Amino acid sequence: MSTVYLNGKYLPDDQALVSVLDRGFVFGDGVYEVIPAYFGHPFRLPQHLERLSNSLSAIRLHNPLSAAQWAELLDNLIRFNPSASDQSLYVQITRGPAKRDHAIPQDIKPTLFAMCNPITPPDHAMLTLGVSVVTLEDIRWKYCQIKAITLLPNVLLRADAAEQGAIDAILLRDGVVTEGTASNVFVWNNGQLVTPPKSNYLLPGITRDLVLEIAQRRGVNALEQDITEGDLRNAEEIWLTSSTKEILPVTQLNGQPVGSGVPGERWRTMLGWYQDYKRSLRTSISA
Ligand code: PDD
Repeated sequence: MSTVYLNGKYLPDDQALVSVLDRGFVFGDGVYEVIPAYFGHPFRLPQHLERLSNSLSAIRLHNPLSAAQWAELLDNLIRFNPSASDQSLYVQITRGPAKRDHAIPQDIKPTLFAMCNPITPPDHAMLTLGVSVVTLEDIRWKYCQIKAITLLPNVLLRADAAEQGAIDAILLRDGVVTEGTASNVFVWNNGQLVTPPKSNYLLPGITRDLVLEIAQRRGVNALEQDITEGDLRNAEEIWLTSSTKEILPVTQLNGQPVGSGVPGERWRTMLGWYQDYKRSLRTSISA
């Protein structure tokens, strides 16, 4: 059993109860964040809190806590759920309980929920063989930059991918790559690392930004540019990035090998740099 946070209290998860009238339950009216915690410390917290703030204002919800209060809450959760492994912090704010009505009610209290779970690292096979993905049409709405809890399209797209024997789908809108169902996409081709530019059609991933930052620091030619279906097909390497999976190498696309069909050297190098970055933070935390 884990300890979760609900509306100001830390409780065993089976005692944390929410009203059935909560607009998160009835309408999917809420937003969330997923923040990895390495060595007991939230990773890139200011960036995650900024994205949370943006999601909240996009759905017209006031941020109920200051950055310092969020940090304290997350530190408490980590302390109440000791774990030897990396952890993932999940934070959710819904508009709160009210009589069912589409109109946004005034003066209701938002529901604040947070939990902490061990991160299951990508298994050995994923890192040695890479993963298989398919391309699917991006059927989602036009506010994908909001980290909304309303994830039914993502769930159904992931199920379609699984039915085709893939672990994920890379989504295409009018023939242009947006992102994965829960990750951002990078391709490596002709000496360039490319990821789609930020827009309302994709989530501005924190891992995506960090990969770009590391690439720039290490002198890699990295661009934010549209990736077409053709670019994807010709890519030497394809990567998926997210807070919980870090950087995954895609080695099969629609049943065809990507590049030589094994995780690429560029991926291996970037993952090494990413791990170095994580370790450098550990040193600065304990310093
Ligand atoms: N999802 N795009 C989508 C649609 C996502 O859901 C996620 C992350 C990302 C990657 O963002 P980041 O690098 O900040 O994790 C991109 C989280 C992990 C989830 O929903 O569980």
